Amino acid sequence: MTTMQSVTAHPAWRALQAHYEDVRDQHLRALFAQDPKRGERLALEAVGIYLDYSKNRITDETIRLLVELAGQAGLRERIDAMFRGERINVTEQRAVLHVALRAPRGASILLDGENVVPRVHEVLDRMAEFADRIRSGAWLGHTGRRIRNVVNIGIGGSDLGPVMAYEALRHYSARDMTFRFVSNVDGTDFAEAVQDLDAAETLFVVASKTFTTLETMTNAHTARDWCVERLGGDEHAVARHFVAVSTNAQAVAKFGIDTANMFGFWDWVGGRYSMDSAIGLATMLAIGPENFRAMLAGFHAMDEHFREAPFERNLPVLMGLLTVWYANFFRAPTVAVLPYEQYLKRFPAYLQQLTMESNGKSVRLDGGPVGCDTGPVYWGEPGTNGQHSFYQLIHQGTHLVPCDFIAFGQPLNPIGPHHDLLLANVFAQGEALAFGKTPAELRAEGTAEWLVPHRTFEGNRPSNTLLLERLTPAALGKLVALYEHSVFTQGALWQINCFDQWGVELGKVLASRIVPELAGGGAELGHDSSTNALIRRYRRLRGR
Ligand code: F6P
Repeated sequence: MTTMQSVTAHPAWRALQAHYEDVRDQHLRALFAQDPKRGERLALEAVGIYLDYSKNRITDETIRLLVELAGQAGLRERIDAMFRGERINVTEQRAVLHVALRAPRGASILLDGENVVPRVHEVLDRMAEFADRIRSGAWLGHTGRRIRNVVNIGIGGSDLGPVMAYEALRHYSARDMTFRFVSNVDGTDFAEAVQDLDAAETLFVVASKTFTTLETMTNAHTARDWCVERLGGDEHAVARHFVAVSTNAQAVAKFGIDTANMFGFWDWVGGRYSMDSAIGLATMLAIGPENFRAMLAGFHAMDEHFREAPFERNLPVLMGLLTVWYANFFRAPTVAVLPYEQYLKRFPAYLQQLTMESNGKSVRLDGGPVGCDTGPVYWGEPGTNGQHSFYQLIHQGTHLVPCDFIAFGQPLNPIGPHHDLLLANVFAQGEALAFGKTPAELRAEGTAEWLVPHRTFEGNRPSNTLLLERLTPAALGKLVALYEHSVFTQGALWQINCFDQWGVELGKVLASRIVPELAGGGAELGHDSSTNALIRRYRRLRGR
C-alpha cells in the first residue's frame, strides 16, 4: 500500500481552515439578511428529494472549497473504483458492490470480469417466489397450517435494516401477518417476541452473513428448540419453519436448514449495506415483492445521481461534505437525525450502524493516523417527540449539534389536523435553531431583565431539511442510499476504510473467554482486578 496524504495536508484543507476563521463569527441571521434568496438558492432537488441546506453555517465559498477538497482527496476516483468493483475494502480484500444489489435487470457490474447483476436477480426472483408462497398461504407449516408470523433472527446489519424497513413501510405491509425481530442475546428478546405466537404458524428467518454470530446462532438454536418442542418433537418441522439468509451455505446446512431454503448473498455486501440483499427477506415478506422492487429502484436512482451529478449538485456529496465541515472545522462531535415521520422511528438507530461502524476509524487506508476527527456520533428520535425531550440542549446547550430534519409532504394517515401540525413543527424547529431569539426581541416583549439570559436563543445552529413527497418504498430506498453515499463521501475525504469493522472484534474474543469462567470453579481468573471482581460478584449472584 503506497503511503497517502492525510486530508489535512491538502491545500483546500488549509484554505478551509482560514475560511472557517471568517465564517464561524457570521450569524445565519446576517447571512440570510445579506441574500434574500438564500433559502431558495442553497437548496437542491434531485431524484424526488428536496434538500434545503441554506440553514448551514456556510457561504458559497465554503461549498467551493469543500468541493475542491473532495477533488484533491480523490473522491471521484473512489466513487469510480467502487462502481468498477475494485477491492476498495483493502483490509478484507473485498469489493464493495452494494450498488449492484439494486442495479436493474440487464445492467452490468463486473467483479473480476464477471457480471454480478444476473446473480442478484436470480436471488431476488427466488425471494419473490418464496414471498408470494408465504403471503398467499401456499407454503404450509409442518402441521398444514398457513404461516401468519415471521420472526427475523439477526443482529447488526442483519437486523437493523430489516426492522427499520419493516417499520418504515408498515403502511404497505400485509396486515394479516405478524412480524417480529429478535436480535439481542438477552433471552428476553426471544421470549417476548414469541410469547403469543403459535409455532404451527410461525416462520423463522435466520439472517446472518457469516452464520457464526454468537447472538444470532444462540437465538436460532433457541428458536429451533422452541419450534420443534411445540410441533411434537419432530425435527422435520425445521424444514417448513426455518429459512436462512447467509453467505455461508456450509454453516447453514450444519445448523440443519436445507440449503434449498437458503437465500444467498456475497462477501462484497457489507452487513450494514445489506438491507436490499436477501437480508431484506423479512421486508419482502412484509411488503411484497413489487414494493421491495420499488424500494430497490429508489436506491438505484440515488446511486445513479451519486455517480453522475457534479459534486456541488450532488445530494450525498453535499451532505457528506457538510458533515466533514462540522466534524472537522466546528469540531461538532455529533449529528442529530430527526425524522418528522413516525414510520421512520427506527431510522436513527439504523443510521447509527451505517455511519458509526463505517466511519468510526482512526487510521487511514495505508495504516497511518487520520490526523483529524472522523465519523461523528449519529443519534436521533422522531419529531415531535424529541422536542419534548432533548431539543433543549440543541437550542440552548453549549454543544453545536447539526441536525438533519426529514419530512414528507403527503401523510400516509391523513387524520384531521395532524400533518399540518407535524410539518409546522419541523419548519419551526429549523427556523428557531437558525435565527433564535435575541435579548432585544425579548425586552421588546416586556420580558423581565433577569429572565432575558435564560430566554435568549442565540440561534446560528445549523440544520438540513429533507422534504420528500410521500414515504413510499422508493423514497425509503433513496433516503438510505443518500446516507450510504454521504458516509462514503466522508470516508473518502478522511481516506479511511468505511467497509471493515475490526473495532467490534476484541469484545467478541474477550466475551468468549469469559463465558466458561462465569460457570464458576476452575482456574484463577486472569483479568484485571475490576473484571475479576465483577465476574466473582456475578457468580455469587447466580449462586455459583
Ligand atoms: O459485529 C459486527 C457485525 O459484524 C456487523 O458488521 C454485522 O452487521 C453484524 O455483526 C452481524 O453479522 P452477521 O450478519 O454475520 O451475523
